[in-house]
Amino acid sequence: MPQGAIKIAPSILAADFARLGEQVVEAEQNGADRIHVDVMDGHFVPNISLGAVVVEGLRKVTRLQLEVHMMITNPDLFLEEFCEAGSDSFLVHWEGNANLHRTVQRIKALGKGAGVVINPATTAAMLEEILPDVDQMLVMTVNPGFGHQHFLGSTLAKIRRVRELIEQIKPECDLEVDGGIDKKTAALAVTAGANVLVAGTSVFDDGQGVAAAKKQLRSVTNDAWNETHR
Ligand code: DX5
Ligand code: ZN
Repeated sequence: MPQGAIKIAPSILAADFARLGEQVVEAEQNGADRIHVDVMDGHFVPNISLGAVVVEGLRKVTRLQLEVHMMITNPDLFLEEFCEAGSDSFLVHWEGNANLHRTVQRIKALGKGAGVVINPATTAAMLEEILPDVDQMLVMTVNPGFGHQHFLGSTLAKIRRVRELIEQIKPECDLEVDGGIDKKTAALAVTAGANVLVAGTSVFDDGQGVAAAKKQLRSVTNDAWNETHR
């Protein structure tokens, strides 16, 4: 993992939806690396969020990669629609998908980036066989469905195990974490081996504004990276 490789992906779930475009532009101007879009259907997780029309709107205001986190029961049904709307990559869950390999191949056939997500109760070992086929792995650091939750410290050991798997099998694969990432937990996750941080509340909703929040997150993660790799 090269120095300075920590990427920050603000999650729009915590943005002010009345000013969504404006907030995404602000995140881009302040050095966000990607925009994380959480799609929920009220079945796979007990919450409903947004659909492809929002990606279509965001596509007009940002050049950043739009990564779509599919928290829905049958992601295959909606891949094409989200592609046409302007999505760049998809994160699909291991849980509840009997044909995950097929879903990943569909994403790749559409020319998009593919990532696999595991929930807090799912072991790192489940990722081993699919790892050669994907560009990123995502370890949920909260139970999916809601923003503003507390980071689960028990996931740190798993982040370390997934990092080991990645180094053995596909070192160029990104390791992303999602949920409860703030200036304290970001450093812990990076030290454990994460190189992409999804951050909703700590970027869009911590009261200090997107610019200051991004700067602070960037600074603690760079420090953690330097500390871990010196
Ligand atoms: C939770 C979502 C997260 C969420 C993170 O199901 O996948 O992306 O938006 O939000 P914070 O950073 O507030 O925990
Ligand atoms: Zn997410």
